[in-house]
Amino acid sequence: MATDYPDEQAPISLELLKKAVDASNDGIVIAEQEGDDNILIYVNRAFERLTGYKADEILYQDCRFLQAGDRTQTGLVGIRDAIEKGVSSREILRNYRKDGSVFWNELSISPVYNEQDQLMYYIGVQKDVTAQVEAEERAAKAERELAELKASLGAKDA
Ligand SMILES: Cc1cc2nc3c(=O)[nH]c(=O)nc-3n(C[C@H](O)[C@H](O)[C@H](O)COP(=O)(O)O)c2cc1C
Repeated sequence: MATDYPDEQAPISLELLKKAVDASNDGIVIAEQEGDDNILIYVNRAFERLTGYKADEILYQDCRFLQAGDRTQTGLVGIRDAIEKGVSSREILRNYRKDGSVFWNELSISPVYNEQDQLMYYIGVQKDVTAQVEAEERAAKAERELAELKASLGAKDA
């Protein structure tokens, strides 16, 4: 269908965009660089539901508070590297809610550049993948146990 906007989609209001972001099932945040930190300047409702923190409790902080003391995770290596290079990344991290309970966060981070090629913001999308990660862990454990059983049966036969 022909539109007045051949190269782009029709513009939508800021209000609709905000509603869409707040209707998302996944956390969506915007962070701005400040020294070595990327401080949160916006979090959507799904982020509040997922983490148990209200926006006014965590705005202007770097999102690393979600790692609590769990700071040697392998996923962090990829995130640090991508942030240093100003490129996007996708990693799975162990994170902790306000009540201390753990969840697995598939975190996608994308840089936003302005027309002068300056890095202005990062957009982060947080997806709760706890059920998948736990199912994978159970499958891996069952495989290990089966391999051990097979090895012990083989040892008895020998
Ligand atoms: C937009 C954005 C969203 C982020 N969201 C999370 C998050 O949900 N959970 C988390 O553990 N880290 C998150 N981070 C990563 C941390 O803010 C930080 O970059 C990471 O811990 C690596 O840096 P550090 O070693 O200085 O802590 C996010 C980073 C950015 C830029």
